[in-house]
Amino acid sequence: MIKRWHRNGAVQGLKSRIPFKGALRRLKRHYFPYTPRAGNDEYYLDNALTMARAVRNAGHPMRGVYLEIGAGWTPVMSVVFYIAGYDEVVLCDLDPFLDDEGVARAKSLAATVIDDISAIAGISQEAARQRLSTYHYQYRCPMDLWSIEAQSVDLIVSRAVLEHVPIRELGGLHAGLARALKPGGLAVHLIDHSDHFEHRDKSISRVNFLRFSQRTWSAIEMLTATSQNRLRHSDHARALKQSGLTLLHEDGRPDPGALDALTSLKINAAFVEKTPEDLATLTSLFVLKKTCRA
Ligand SMILES: C[S@@+](CC[C@H](N)C(=O)[O-])C[C@H]1O[C@@H](n2cnc3c(N)ncnc32)[C@H](O)[C@@H]1O
Repeated sequence: MIKRWHRNGAVQGLKSRIPFKGALRRLKRHYFPYTPRAGNDEYYLDNALTMARAVRNAGHPMRGVYLEIGAGWTPVMSVVFYIAGYDEVVLCDLDPFLDDEGVARAKSLAATVIDDISAIAGISQEAARQRLSTYHYQYRCPMDLWSIEAQSVDLIVSRAVLEHVPIRELGGLHAGLARALKPGGLAVHLIDHSDHFEHRDKSISRVNFLRFSQRTWSAIEMLTATSQNRLRHSDHARALKQSGLTLLHEDGRPDPGALDALTSLKINAAFVEKTPEDLATLTSLFVLKKTCRA
């Protein structure tokens, strides 16, 4: 039976193959401004504040160079961290999604949580508002981590990015990020392990993609021009530790709905050795520190 996610995936695959899609995207956005979904905004801001608290709790001075990979369309995270005290914001991406409208939206969203940011950073609301008005950033797209000076970055951030990086590229990405960090610097990553096709097709579960063999999944990724590596919390923890950084904090709790869905889902052999709790963990937060000088 054809499901909505099949149709959505096919449309996505076709769209990705349109020539000049970047220029067409900009033209569309000019005439039909992006209409945000309020529920997403709240979740996004909540994630940004959670990540900022995690960095503060790890004892970081919240100053210096902030580097975000996969910054996307609305750089809320970077505005929150800039207000909190980082002086230089470097946003990187593979595709040029960022524009002035997205930046303006990010600033107006961050303005709604100025009291939370000032509490996290230990500054007055007045000082936080002042910081918001001077927000600025550099944009590096397409990103090339090796062009960033070694040991020049104080904080590395990603949100909803690492689940999209192909497994074969993950080691190189982590090595590049570890190289860019100053000794004593932190990396904070928030990862969404859910099946992203479920986001627009609620008829499937959030772990539906665990049914497929790697071969079938690679074909689905190719046809839909998407990339979801399906790594679970434990896989990311291992890959991050292998980068040479020290894991300070990890958070990832099984989602009750996903645990329930797993009781009737025939998961593929590739996942059978993992615990249901690991498979059903849909959001992970990792905080790592560069403790060596390499
Ligand atoms: C779901 S969006 C998240 C955007 C933004 N971080 C957010 O939270 O709204 C995924 C982002 O990851 C970027 N991305 C995908 N694959 C990547 C890769 N291999 N390396 C770096 N960034 C990647 C995409 O270009 C996109 O900006």
